Amino acid sequence: MPGPSTEALSTPAVLVDLDVLERNISRMAERARDAGVKLRPHAKTHKSPEIGRLQRAAGAWGLSLAKVGEAEAFVNAGFDDLFLAYPVFGEDKARRLLSLTDRARMAVGFDSVEGARSLAATFADAGRTLDVVLKVDVGYGRVGVLPSHAVEVARSVAELAGLSLRGIFTHAGHGYLAETRDGVEAIARLEGERLVETAERLREAGLPLDEVSVGSTPTAALAMKVPGVTECRPGNYVFHDASQVALGTCSLEDCALTILATVVSVPAADRAVVDAGSKTLSSDPLRPRPGGHGQILGRASRLEKLSEEHGVIAVAPDEVFRVGERVRILPNHACVVANLHDSLIGVSGDHVETVIEVAARGRVR
Ligand SMILES: Cc1ncc(COP(=O)(O)O)c(C=O)c1O
Repeated sequence: MPGPSTEALSTPAVLVDLDVLERNISRMAERARDAGVKLRPHAKTHKSPEIGRLQRAAGAWGLSLAKVGEAEAFVNAGFDDLFLAYPVFGEDKARRLLSLTDRARMAVGFDSVEGARSLAATFADAGRTLDVVLKVDVGYGRVGVLPSHAVEVARSVAELAGLSLRGIFTHAGHGYLAETRDGVEAIARLEGERLVETAERLREAGLPLDEVSVGSTPTAALAMKVPGVTECRPGNYVFHDASQVALGTCSLEDCALTILATVVSVPAADRAVVDAGSKTLSSDPLRPRPGGHGQILGRASRLEKLSEEHGVIAVAPDEVFRVGERVRILPNHACVVANLHDSLIGVSGDHVETVIEVAARGRVR
């Protein structure tokens, strides 16, 4: 029996096409299997144990997250192997991590001796060990040590009681700014190669490593194939979005998450307004080049401007919008959209099948 029609939903609502979601999950799992690497998807995209369970069932080894609060939500939901792919700092966080390690295999990122030291004493005093993974910057210019400094930082941290160096990781976020598919592919190869070279230098220096971990959705397919890479952490691929389409990572049919919105005002022939603004769609720009606030499916008209609860459509000359009409919007960045909502509506075609709780939304501490 199909569930109730999406017509009955109150808007704005975030819809997730379950068939597309499951296809995205199994395709990435298959890619990782073919490449011979572990898949550790970044669950910041959905923050939902239910979707995490689908990823585990398809073969993911564990999940990646960023914050301790997210890890607490996932461990409470039964997940037992998590990596915080983020430079976690501070004794308060260390105490919470220590309690998580009673119930789950945990690892956290670091890119400084100070950061690692802020976690070490809590574990050493408890007679326990926390796995840590060194973040390496392969060109994004956000966090991470440059490859040239990796041995020095890793060696200092490997000597700290209470910590164990599990591996190194990177995230080629600059792939989102590459203007061409060739550009994305060049970044993907370098992501893998630079990280593997860094791993070799560390091993030559007597620092054994288990994991060499890469990952972003645009670069995953190629970076995971570089020999020496052991793990991949894409996140956005479960949903995809308008930016992934623009980057050539996927096609429109591979996008699982859309926003169902209602036209609430048509104040002029060239302007219509929907009930989804920045509090529903986020203000994140389209990548790699800015261009509107989301794509209205099946229409040429563009979502030109957002305020908090208004999405202003610049109506194309040959199109008409009516008050009360519903539209589907493909967001620029699906990960931030999920975090803005308590729940996502799982649909099959035009039927509601399930409600997916975004259990770790807002867990930024
Ligand atoms: C450290 C880290 N790893 C993996 C990912 C996943 O990347 P994507 O969302 O492109 O799949 C991110 C995304 O922000 C990240 O910051």
